[in-house]
Amino acid sequence: MLRLSGTIKQNAVTNSGITKRLFSNIQCYDSLVLGAYTENGTATLTASKDISKKVHNLIEEHLRVSNFKKAGDVRTLYNIGGMKQVAIVSLGKKSEVQDTQEAARRATALGLQALKPQGAKHIGIDISLNAHGAGEGAVLSQFSFDKLKSDAKEEDIVVGPFSETENGELDWANGQIYGASQNVARMLMTSPANLMTPKLFAEEVAYLLAGLENVEVIVRDEEWAARHNMNAFLSVARGSVEPLRFMEIHYKGGKKGDKPHGLVGKGVTFDAGGISLKPSNNMALMKGDMGGAATVAGALYGICKLQLPINVIAVTPLCENMPSGTATKPGDVVKAMNGKSIEVLDTDAEGRMILADALYYVSSKHSPASLIDLATLTGAMDVALGDVFAGVFTNSDKLWNNLEKAGKTTSDPFWRMPLNDGYLKEMKESSVADLNNLGKGRSGGACSAASFLKEFVYGLDKKEEQEKIPWAHIDIAGVMDSQGTDGYHIKGMSGRPTRSLIEYIRGLSSN
Ligand code: BES
Ligand code: MN
Ligand code: ZN
Repeated sequence: MLRLSGTIKQNAVTNSGITKRLFSNIQCYDSLVLGAYTENGTATLTASKDISKKVHNLIEEHLRVSNFKKAGDVRTLYNIGGMKQVAIVSLGKKSEVQDTQEAARRATALGLQALKPQGAKHIGIDISLNAHGAGEGAVLSQFSFDKLKSDAKEEDIVVGPFSETENGELDWANGQIYGASQNVARMLMTSPANLMTPKLFAEEVAYLLAGLENVEVIVRDEEWAARHNMNAFLSVARGSVEPLRFMEIHYKGGKKGDKPHGLVGKGVTFDAGGISLKPSNNMALMKGDMGGAATVAGALYGICKLQLPINVIAVTPLCENMPSGTATKPGDVVKAMNGKSIEVLDTDAEGRMILADALYYVSSKHSPASLIDLATLTGAMDVALGDVFAGVFTNSDKLWNNLEKAGKTTSDPFWRMPLNDGYLKEMKESSVADLNNLGKGRSGGACSAASFLKEFVYGLDKKEEQEKIPWAHIDIAGVMDSQGTDGYHIKGMSGRPTRSLIEYIRGLSSN
């Protein structure tokens, strides 16, 4: 287990005994991660507080022959100033570091990853550059999923802040919450589908949020969904023996009567494609098809932990998409909760079916101030933007601006994609129903999926002038998993964009 701490209480007697130490090290770290700007063979440490002039000079002297080449290079010094190990991470040239939060996030991760295998146990992190980023990097870089390995070792590393600045400790603590929230999403997504069924997912999230303030988790079952005429959702779940769940999280940190902001997450705990079965290569990745639900749950965890002064309602339809004798067949027609009939031309386009009912439910029953859905919705999204940006389709420039700003701050960014009825055309040409769920399929696939969803957002589903809800659909299929480990990016399910969601909600709550 990794413990992360703020201040570790130290007894004054021991502390005053360490007169020879050149770091003022009240937390008694045995090792440090320090950031340094590097240029033409010289390194300049960012931390100044808590380091004596003498040791500062000593380190910079050592680093003169360190050959730092680029940002991210790490050098370790041993037995210096009373520390066993000091990892110095290059931030690159000072003039080229614009985003200090990202620099601190990455440097912290790289420094920790260098020290850990060398046996450091009690590590102080330089938070002088950007304490929030350092907090995120510290937590994100430590994610691992080894509870199913029989030789898993318990780690007992303690990480804490070093070289305080004003607000440093609070920012560091908040950064840790952001990181931990993304780790929640990573954990949910990485868990194999047999251990993260709809039922278990809901239980896990309810357990996670239990004991936090101003939050309530309501878990609905199939009978409830049937009573609410969620036939699009039910049509996906019916192929599986695992019962569906519809989870609702109500967070009430804001004023009573203030409209909640809505979040909806696609929660397909395994997507085999249904009768339109997927090819078997890489099908295992489809345990992560609940990434929308996972990032929404992770964000709610963060929002609760931070006790943001805002009301949020989060909803996740949870089910498996499996082929079987009871499964929906291509060509079947179902009537969604909003009354529209859908011809299921492809059972593998299941995400839009379950979101159709979830979006209509939230938008019509809870009159949200804004509404965002997240979904690993289309392979076409991955083709379009890969794993750098998540695609955002929205009817609101303001909502887009807020999301773009949040994504830049967290370095988990968004790119705006077109929301246009032109993409609806083929889907409106079903010979038997109001819509089909396929359209042109591959060509413009992410865009047509978004337009399909719009038809199920109350207020946007009809031409008449109703009060239009600002709505955004975020397709996270491309950013679902990370190919390789680099600093705080860890190979495997990414848990993105959990931090951007929290940042977006925090931005709203501080307005
Ligand atoms: N869950 C998949 C999309 C996906 C693919 C997510 C790869 C992450 C990685 C989704 O349910 C799906 O199967 N989409 C189809 C839609 C098509 C049938 C219109 C697709 O993208 O092929
Ligand atoms: Mn599918
Ligand atoms: Zn899917």
